[in-house]
Amino acid sequence: MKIIESRSELQGWSDRQRAEGHRIALVPTMGALHAGHLSLVKTARERTDRVIVSIFVNPTQFNDPSDFEGYPRVMDDDLAACREAGVDVVWAPAAEELYPQGAASSATWVDVEGLTDPLCGSNRPGHFRGVTTIVTKLFLAARPHVAVFGEKDFQQLAVIRRMTVDLGFGIEIAGGQTVREHDGLALSSRNVRLGRNARRQALVISRSLALAESMVAQGERSHAAILEVVRKQLDEATQASIDYADLRDPESLLPAPESLDGPVLLAIALQFEPDNTDNTDNTDESANVGAAVRLIDNRILNPKE
Ligand code: PAJ
Repeated sequence: MKIIESRSELQGWSDRQRAEGHRIALVPTMGALHAGHLSLVKTARERTDRVIVSIFVNPTQFNDPSDFEGYPRVMDDDLAACREAGVDVVWAPAAEELYPQGAASSATWVDVEGLTDPLCGSNRPGHFRGVTTIVTKLFLAARPHVAVFGEKDFQQLAVIRRMTVDLGFGIEIAGGQTVREHDGLALSSRNVRLGRNARRQALVISRSLALAESMVAQGERSHAAILEVVRKQLDEATQASIDYADLRDPESLLPAPESLDGPVLLAIALQFEPDNTDNTDNTDESANVGAAVRLIDNRILNPKE
């Protein structure tokens, strides 16, 4: 496995692979790799014969500086995980490689309108602009045929698909299913920062998705009725604040109709405040320190199934 830091070296490697007729997949990540990331690597492997994993904690997509600072950084573990997963290249650039003028004084941005307004866009101003700008930079350097993103970040996947079409990147965007803990919690690099209580309460997210799914399976079609039950369950089971619990059209991300007649996206985001009295089982020193921990998850509900 090659470890590359420089942008030009990656471009050179990628050009050579293309010239030799290989197909390249890129799996963009911010590191602290878990089984969810590694399942994207597997998807990449199935589609191409060269896999690049990028590891870069992108400062411009964090609205909260303490969230950026507290973001887990475990490069040695990440490299070992990539080696074991058969990754060809880990690209771990320094910030100057991607923001030559410094992230704070960067003047050029890629912005996708509309799809970035609701859900995480309304709660995290500037977040998606940071994501689409960095993903553009990653695409330009890695020059992949395929890029793989997780369905856990459903809105991110939709926004990147749209950007790829609008800018004519000619890259196939593949989605990877959400990987969960045995108890249903979606894997996230932020889970290590949950204290014991918050970790237990966080289960309400996947429970609420399952509850909504069973309501639809039993014939419930009312948008309002489903949301009321979901929000009540979220409210009762956790002290976390609900950023959103919404039913949306899976493509446009506009609000789903009052009476559901096709597949809809149920998307949930909860924010756990740091709670230092919450004795954590977690031995990681970063647990519960600093920024709130924001968890998201989603499910497609299909009344026709
Ligand atoms: P990060 O949060 O590290 O996630 C990297 C990729 O892993 C994303 O495509 C995300 O959707 C996927 N992922 C995260 N948790 C997952 C899970 N439980 N199951 C399956 N896939 C999962 O998303 C980002 O980084 C950044 O925004 C990035 C795209 C790298 C741009 O900076």
